[in-house]
Amino acid sequence: MDLIPYSRQSINEEDVSLITKTLTSDFLTQGPRVPDFERALEDKLGVKHAVVCSSGTAALHLSYASAGINEKSLGIVPAITFAATANAMRYQGGSVRFCDVEPDSGIISISSLEESISKIPDEQKENINLIAPVSFAGSVAPLTECKEIAEKNNFCIIEDASHSPGAWKYNKKNEKIYSANGIHALASTLSFHPVKHICAGEGGAVLTNDSKVAEKAAQLRSHGIKRPFNEIDEKPWYYEQEDLGWNYRLTDLQATLGLSQLSRLEQFLTQRRALAKRYDQILKQSPFREHIQCPPFEDGHGWHLYIIRFIDPSLRNQAYKFLKSKNILTQVHYIPVYKHPFYKKNLQEFSLPGAEAFYQSCLSIPMYPDLKQKEQDHVLNSLETFITQG
Ligand SMILES: Cc1ncc(COP(=O)(O)O)c(C=O)c1O
Repeated sequence: MDLIPYSRQSINEEDVSLITKTLTSDFLTQGPRVPDFERALEDKLGVKHAVVCSSGTAALHLSYASAGINEKSLGIVPAITFAATANAMRYQGGSVRFCDVEPDSGIISISSLEESISKIPDEQKENINLIAPVSFAGSVAPLTECKEIAEKNNFCIIEDASHSPGAWKYNKKNEKIYSANGIHALASTLSFHPVKHICAGEGGAVLTNDSKVAEKAAQLRSHGIKRPFNEIDEKPWYYEQEDLGWNYRLTDLQATLGLSQLSRLEQFLTQRRALAKRYDQILKQSPFREHIQCPPFEDGHGWHLYIIRFIDPSLRNQAYKFLKSKNILTQVHYIPVYKHPFYKKNLQEFSLPGAEAFYQSCLSIPMYPDLKQKEQDHVLNSLETFITQG
């Protein structure tokens, strides 16, 4: 059996032919495919403005900067996420406070968020502060509750939706909540890294219903330059750099791939959901259920990752090695961000029980649209051999 990664891109002939066309067109960057991709994202995700950029990390940075995050700001970030969710706060000079997650799902814990906010002095609340819920693994974060807490405390919300384009969930009031549609967050961010739902090689997007945030993000993406400065001026070539921005532009080549992939988002979600359902049906039975907990199957889940948890966490590392010996690459999502040396040096003995429990026991097993049934069977059979024979 060939190597089975935990995730990978799905590229078809249409993707290849469209990229080839762009490659021989007039524009490799800053051409028509970038706005085409942006308009298509707006339509598909039901949000007013999409600003595409060079990575999911750039999208977080642009969103935080456009929301006004600065060195006086505080960002509350769930401990289980990719470090970029927190790092973008630091790029702006702001500080980060980690809050805990639910031990069985890795999703931000509302009680921990409330507790974190209750400890913040009132003077800090006069600054521009942020809650950054992550719709982790494809499960939409509790955005309704986050929004209520944010409004009460004068915080804004930027959702890290890198794992969840097209995902939805019912909230406690039985309302259908979509990830990244601009309703619960000031902005949401996507990543177009190859393991994600939509691949552009690298890439990201800021999604928002706020026209000022969109305008600012678009300007900062390209050095902070405003252009056209004044169309009726006799100097039509003129531009000014108003802000200190970056080169976070997406190329037309990447936008072409992103656009082509976006047209298959529903198909990708359907394939991921079918694989998750099959994992769910099998892993809930013996001999798996005595050793493994699988995430509850939800129809609207985006299933970017399929994360199992070992009831005896000491089995997790052995399982990783055993599966690797069977040509199956799994991964741990994530090491709590506060454990990384960059954050640890300021936090000393800091630890959060939900994040630790999740981290110790979790393992992401293969999940991607082109995973074939016989490959999924190989994963399940190998896992069964590990559990029953060690
Ligand atoms: C939750 C989360 N946020 C942000 C990022 C950063 O995205 P990118 O790799 O496109 O910069 C990732 C990518 O792994 C991610 O998983």
